[in-house]
Amino acid sequence: MPDVNSMDQNQLKKAVARAAIAHIPHDCIVGVGTGSTANYFIDELAAIKGRIEGAVASSEASAARLKRAGIRVFDLNVVSEVPVYVDGADEIDRQLHMIKGGGGALTREKIVAAVAQKFVCIADATKLKDVLGAFPLPVEVIPMARSHVGRELLRLGGRPALRQGFTTDNGNLILDVHGLSIADPVGLESAIDQIVGVVTNGLFARRGADVLLLGAPDGVQTIVR
Ligand code: A5P
Repeated sequence: MPDVNSMDQNQLKKAVARAAIAHIPHDCIVGVGTGSTANYFIDELAAIKGRIEGAVASSEASAARLKRAGIRVFDLNVVSEVPVYVDGADEIDRQLHMIKGGGGALTREKIVAAVAQKFVCIADATKLKDVLGAFPLPVEVIPMARSHVGRELLRLGGRPALRQGFTTDNGNLILDVHGLSIADPVGLESAIDQIVGVVTNGLFARRGADVLLLGAPDGVQTIVR
């Protein structure tokens, strides 16, 4: 991994956010993710807002930022298609499987990603990993199932920790699962989804990204699945 300090990291996030604009068709409704990289993308989108119809947002925070930028925000239910979804990741591998949900918006992110025809992941080079799992895997859980889901996650080999003082936009809790080395992202995503009480887990493997715009000190690389 290249040596990227936090100031450089923000420059790299800005660079990939800018590069994502080339993937936005005219007159479309854009799917917009959540997090610091997605925030830079919203700033870039504001500069071309005259040539898009609007956006669907993956969180209340992104919806508020889009509105502040003067971009119309649509309810996903009234939208017939989302040609492209742009979002960051906490970790991504070369198959473009991801861990997401560091900001807690994983469920809405997964919903918008499922509707989108193309998922463009924007990430700085620190996010690219050979094996996913060093970043604790977020799992959104119905509050009354917290202990049950925690025990099942232990059985799967992880160490779940309740995210303190945090409630998702959907009124649920997050368990962050530590200690996983994820050899089979598709299999683990499915296994965790089978646990009763789990709303969503932060593995985006069955529906990974289609394109990764990776920000490195020597420029933005495009990696296609
Ligand atoms: C939000 O829930 C996450 O999935 C973010 O997309 C992810 O954590 C990346 O965030 P940053 O761009 O802030 O690193």
